[in-house]
Amino acid sequence: MTAPRRKVALVGAGGRMGQKIAELLQADPVLSLGAAVESEESPVIGLPVPSSPEVVYEADLARGMATCDVGIDFSSPETLRRSVEAFAAAGKPLVIGTTGLTLSDRDFVREMGAHIPILWSPNMSLGVNLLAILAGQAARALEEFDAEILEIHHRHKKDAPSGTALFLGEAVASARNGALSQSGVFVRHGLTGEREPGSIGVMALRGGDVPGDHTVFFLGSGERLELTHRAESREIFARGAIRAAAFLLDRPTGFYTMADVLMSGEPENR
Ligand SMILES: NC(=O)c1ccc[n+]([C@@H]2O[C@H](COP(=O)([O-])OP(=O)(O)OC[C@H]3O[C@@H](n4cnc5c(N)ncnc54)[C@H](OP(=O)(O)O)[C@@H]3O)[C@@H](O)[C@H]2O)c1
Repeated sequence: MTAPRRKVALVGAGGRMGQKIAELLQADPVLSLGAAVESEESPVIGLPVPSSPEVVYEADLARGMATCDVGIDFSSPETLRRSVEAFAAAGKPLVIGTTGLTLSDRDFVREMGAHIPILWSPNMSLGVNLLAILAGQAARALEEFDAEILEIHHRHKKDAPSGTALFLGEAVASARNGALSQSGVFVRHGLTGEREPGSIGVMALRGGDVPGDHTVFFLGSGERLELTHRAESREIFARGAIRAAAFLLDRPTGFYTMADVLMSGEPENR
């Protein structure tokens, strides 16, 4: 007999990522949609979720999650703390894909690992997490090369630079024994002067429906290395988030990353 599927409380369920995750949960062998939580002002409150009509969009997170085993949050940085506190109070694991978090938000999320299993990743794709490892290796091997990061996203994206670009910048900075908060350059305009040695430029382009391109450049004298990841669709992030949620079920409390999920060796198609 197959075990019943465990239920997911999806926060930001009406958004672009939320809808894709709800769609994929329909066919997932381990997890199913248990609650679809949206903001109070959202016009979808009270309506059925198109891919799972048995679930209705609701605004009450505490009530929605009561019957669920794990949460997935792809909402907004403004509402994230409330969402994390609610999952911590209920003692339920939580996967967070929301980006645009401040450093203090990120510390807060990490600290909540003392209470529940919690995972935050600005990019849930396999390829980007490998790119961060490779960028760190290149940063060490090509110490004298200038490192710059460029990202491109769709016209609707609300934060810049992307959480993924910052994540890659941090991988490069820490490989060079620094911190992006010290070496990051996020705007160049006007008479900027020469490039500051050791700085890491992180720049953003916006337009169209691009799900997310990231390139880490290592610019040397007479040569350059470009490491690029292109997301072809949002499905890769949604798949990663569902895989992360299945990974967190029944784990001990702690702060986890996608690297933990990838290293666990648990197959993608469980
Ligand atoms: N980690 C990753 O791999 C990854 C990949 C893609 C995107 N992201 C990030 O995920 C987040 C969502 O992206 P998206 O493209 O899906 O954005 P989106 O389409 O704007 O979706 C966000 C949804 O969250 C809802 N929301 C806002 N406040 C809420 C609350 N208090 N409770 C419940 N729901 C609430 C929004 O509703 P309203 O419209 O009514 O405010 C909206 O429907 C962004 O931060 C994005 O950068 C991460």
